[in-house]
Amino acid sequence: RERKRKEGVNLLELSASFFRERLKMPEAGAARGYLARRGLSPEVQQAFGIGYAPDDWEALKRHLGERGVSEAVQVEYGLLVHREESGRTYDRFRDRVMFPIRDIKGRTIAFGGRVLGDAKPKYLNSPETPVFHKGRELYGLFEARQAESRLERLVIVEGYMDVVALAQFGIRNAVATLGTSTSEEHLSRLFRLVGEVVFCFDGDRAGRQAATRALETVLPLMIDGRQARFLFLPEGEDPDTLVRREGPEAFNDRITCASPLSEFLFDQAAAGRDLARVEDRERYASQVLAALGRLPEGVLKSLMLSELSRRTGVDQSSFENLMARNAPSPV
Ligand code: CTP
Ligand code: MN
Ligand code: MN
Ligand code: MN
Ligand code: MN
Repeated sequence: RERKRKEGVNLLELSASFFRERLKMPEAGAARGYLARRGLSPEVQQAFGIGYAPDDWEALKRHLGERGVSEAVQVEYGLLVHREESGRTYDRFRDRVMFPIRDIKGRTIAFGGRVLGDAKPKYLNSPETPVFHKGRELYGLFEARQAESRLERLVIVEGYMDVVALAQFGIRNAVATLGTSTSEEHLSRLFRLVGEVVFCFDGDRAGRQAATRALETVLPLMIDGRQARFLFLPEGEDPDTLVRREGPEAFNDRITCASPLSEFLFDQAAAGRDLARVEDRERYASQVLAALGRLPEGVLKSLMLSELSRRTGVDQSSFENLMARNAPSPV
C-alpha cells in the first residue's frame, strides 16, 4: 500500500514538472500572457509550481507512458480519463493553467486547472484518488509554511487565485479549500499549526453562506484560547481583486479588523430582527443559545452567555437552565 502511494506521488511529480516545462514552450504563449495579466510574477509562479497543460488529448499520456507509467495508474491518479463506451483514454487537463496541490510535505497530490478564457468549467480539479481527499487538503498550506516557519495565523480563502494573488502582494499565509466547504478536518489541521484562523470568503451570497457554515463548523473546536475571526469583503470582491485594488496594507488592515467569532455570532442572530420586540428577542436568544450549545465548556462559552444575558435582559441562570434541558442527555 505504501509502495503504491509512492508510485502515485512519483507520477504526480512527473506530471507537475511536465506542466512546468510546458509553460516555458512557445505553445504556452497565451497561458503566460494570461498569468501576466493576472499579475503573477515568475517568482510567485515558481513558488507555487504553476504550469500549463498543453492543448492536446494525449501529451501527458505519451510523456508518462514513455517513462513507464501504466495507463491504469494514470487513470487511478486522475490524470487520464477513461471512457467506458469507447474504451479510450485521454488527458484530463488540456489547455489549462495548472496549479499543483501539495501536501504538507510539499509532495504533489493533485491538480487544479483553470481555463484561459470563459469556458466552463472554470476550474477542473483532480478527482478523489488514493492520495487526494478534498475535504482534508488545503491549497497553499505547504507554501505558507515554506514562507514562514513560525506561522501564527492562517487566512482561509475560497480560491487558488486568491492564495496566489495574496502571496504576490506579500501576504503569504493564505490557504484555500478546494471547491468544498470548510470541514472540521480542515480546521483541526489548521489549529494544530496556528492559534488563529481568519475566514475570508468572497463578497457574494455564496461567500456569506460559506461563512455561516464555517461558523457552525468551527464552534466545537473553540478550545485552548483558539481564535476564529470573520472577514467580510465588499460586494463583488474576492481577495484577489481586492488586494490588487487596495494593496496589501489595506488588506492587512482588514485582516486585523476582522470580526471575532462572538461578534459575528451575535450579529448573525440579530440580522433581520427588531430587538425592540419581545418575539424577535426570543428568536435571537434561541439562535445564540443553539450556537452556544455547540461550543465546548469553557471561559468563552461563559462569557458569551453573560453577554447574551446582558443583551436580552434575561437572567443568565435562566439561560443555563434552558441549555441544560436542551443538551443531549448524558449516556
Ligand atoms: N471552483 C471549482 N470549480 C469550479 C468553480 C470554482 O473547483 N467550476 C473552486 C476553485 O477552487 C475556485 C473556488 O472554487 O478557486 C472559488 O470559485 P470562484 O470564486 O468562482 O473562482 P475564483 O477563485 O475567483 O477564480 P478566478 O479568480 O480565477 O476567476
Ligand atoms: Mn484513502
Ligand atoms: Mn465567488
Ligand atoms: Mn472568487
Ligand atoms: Mn477570483
